[in-house]
Amino acid sequence: MTIPNQIPTASASPDLPLDMIIFGGGGDLSARKLLPALYMAHLHGNLPPATRIIATGRRDWSRDDYLGFMNEHSKPFVDKKALTSAGWDAFTGLFDYVRIDAGAADDYASLARVSRPNALRVFYLATAPDLFTTICDQLAASGLVDEHARVVLEKPLGHDLASAQAINTAVGQHFAETQIYRIDHYLGKETVQNLMVLRFGNAIFGPLWQAPYIRSVQITVAETVGVGSRAGFYDETGALRDMVQNHLLQLLCIVAMEPPVSLDPDAVRDEKLKVLRSLRRMTPDEVARDTVRGQYTAGAVNGEAVKGYLEEDNVPPGSRAETFVALHAQINNWRWAHVPFFLRTGKRMQKKVSEIVIEFADLPFSIIPNGASHAGNRLVIQLQPAESIQLQMLAKEPGSGMRMLPVNLNLDLEQAFTERRAEAYERLLIDVIRGRLTHFMRRDELEAAWAWVEPIIESWQASGERPRSYTAGTFGPAASTALVARENLTWAEEA
Ligand code: BG6
Repeated sequence: MTIPNQIPTASASPDLPLDMIIFGGGGDLSARKLLPALYMAHLHGNLPPATRIIATGRRDWSRDDYLGFMNEHSKPFVDKKALTSAGWDAFTGLFDYVRIDAGAADDYASLARVSRPNALRVFYLATAPDLFTTICDQLAASGLVDEHARVVLEKPLGHDLASAQAINTAVGQHFAETQIYRIDHYLGKETVQNLMVLRFGNAIFGPLWQAPYIRSVQITVAETVGVGSRAGFYDETGALRDMVQNHLLQLLCIVAMEPPVSLDPDAVRDEKLKVLRSLRRMTPDEVARDTVRGQYTAGAVNGEAVKGYLEEDNVPPGSRAETFVALHAQINNWRWAHVPFFLRTGKRMQKKVSEIVIEFADLPFSIIPNGASHAGNRLVIQLQPAESIQLQMLAKEPGSGMRMLPVNLNLDLEQAFTERRAEAYERLLIDVIRGRLTHFMRRDELEAAWAWVEPIIESWQASGERPRSYTAGTFGPAASTALVARENLTWAEEA
């Protein structure tokens, strides 16, 4: 394959000084996630010795103004146990601030002046995706993109398939695919990475990990938070684009993929791509039958009264944005034929829980008197709030009879390993610096995910129906229960 000559080939760049350049440095994501993650990476000696962090933004700030912003908006998100004033001072000492208006060529000249010639440059684009193309064009025009440069693209990458393709093509004019890190922070979570070890490091699950031994798979990411101050973004986006297109589909891929030949980035991403391509595309009738969209109304979460979505600040009157999605996906391949995959996510739900529930098939026949064929074997992989793996099974109740009761084999990963766990962003930022692409999405993978959600978005738009209401503090609309009930199943919390 020939690479057009303006695109540099990625270099391993092991010993270069690092210039980390953050676009959207004054934004919410930087304040809450990126800067605290970089603080921890610095504290634990995981940044190269000569690191500089250059925050950029539209505001006409001095370096001191930016440090003031960090103090007020970012420091509160650093783990209290790890925060010391000496540590914070050493960390803020790495920073510079450059005012950049994304489209203004002159502003990039200022960036070029402060950036070191022979550094590993990581451009972190924590901005709206419609700026990605302009920023990359300008970076290249200012001579800042060489073989040592890397670019990190935050989600959501685009708004639909066409916009995602356009961004990928535009970024690909200046960066080789191996220099592009499309981030999905779920891939940086400890338990998500552990899922690979559970599946491919243990012999016992392999033979059972397929139809007909698995009856169903449920993937839930339930949040108690509402839309908060992000209505401007969220109302345009909705839960399907914000959570399903990326986080939930990535979890589905790791559960469903074939064993990759190695952990090399392309080996893993090839297998995930095959899963995405095997997902049955829904027709409009199937969208109507197999998806449920909801929007929260006023209620109570954790004992506190909360507003409905339509009453939140900056939500347009009568908004049809969904804050909840449940859907029944099918993977059309040999391993998963006829195994329903139920995906569900929502804001203002009863409790915060992210988990994958693998429900195993029933017994072919029961020899236990009065024993049902329903074995109730489930493997529950909880990502948050706790990191645990539970195997639910039946055991004999002690005594003279043969009564069976459900019991759990419970692996609490936080007790089993007491070492500090890096947050997802910290882990992924270190991967970027070290040039490890396995936990980032490749172009074809991201576009395949868009291609699958697009007919759902289109059918919802065409139907013109409002999302179903659900009371804040519940697990979503009743139709979500009905969705799984059609397969004679229940959601995990109802079991
Ligand atoms: C983000 C979404 O990608 O993930 C947010 O934009 C959501 O809406 C967040 O709240 C959830 O992440 P986590 O790590 O808290 O489960």
